Amino acid sequence: MRNPAVFFIAPMILSDVDAVMDIERVSHLEPWSEVSFIEELERSYSHVLVARAPDPKQEPRKISSPEERRSGAIVGYICFWDVADEIQILNVAVRADFHRQGIGRALLLRALESGCERSARVAVLEVRPSNVAARRLYESAGFREVGRRPNYYEKMNEPAILMEMELDPYCKAHRFRESPSKEMIIIAEDKQSKRQPLHALSKLTSHRSESRRND
Ligand SMILES: CC(C)(COP(=O)(O)OP(=O)(O)OC[C@H]1O[C@@H](n2cnc3c(N)ncnc32)[C@H](O)[C@@H]1OP(=O)(O)O)[C@@H](O)C(=O)NCCC(=O)NCCS
Repeated sequence: MRNPAVFFIAPMILSDVDAVMDIERVSHLEPWSEVSFIEELERSYSHVLVARAPDPKQEPRKISSPEERRSGAIVGYICFWDVADEIQILNVAVRADFHRQGIGRALLLRALESGCERSARVAVLEVRPSNVAARRLYESAGFREVGRRPNYYEKMNEPAILMEMELDPYCKAHRFRESPSKEMIIIAEDKQSKRQPLHALSKLTSHRSESRRND
């Protein structure tokens, strides 16, 4: 069996903004600005996580220090908010040359896991009907369409599909699940603090909001 791919997920820090913007500009029809990301880093209820590929000069299994983990290129990110009993997914993108490697799903599941950790009831997001990749990703995680906002994406003349996922069944199922993945190892540095992340290892299967519109 081939070795699983290894990616690191950690809270975004200020010095990550340029690399995140490189992905953001080419990923969305209405990209966020640099300032948007900086504002997110300052909001207490906002989480921005970045996924990094391991530095090709390092042997992934031997990487142990946060500095070594931070030396790889950023290949994706997710931004979500804690709002009352909801997790609101605002933005997720993966670098095009890393698509279909499970990174988008890993980031999304990390956000859901964060919702489980704080006993959130539901995860919500908005997506364009024509964004098939994103819709499939969300559906595969367990999101279902619950409504539409007409003419939400004015530039594209498209409504927003509102999607929702009840977290309780997901959290219960995953609490007792054995590490299922043979395909990818995600090393998640938990967001207890944006400055001093804790380290937690989780294995995953191969597997928005009004104020910040995304597609
Ligand atoms: C949507 C996006 C984040 C997916 O990231 P990714 O890392 O390529 O996704 P994953 O590899 O984790 O794929 C997970 C699942 O999503 C679905 N999926 C992903 N890309 C897909 C595509 N191009 N077509 C159909 N389904 C797709 C599949 O069900 C896939 O599972 P599978 O590979 O086992 O079949 C990525 O395409 C992206 O960055 N798009 C541009 C930004 C964007 O649209 N963000 C969402 C805004 S709402």
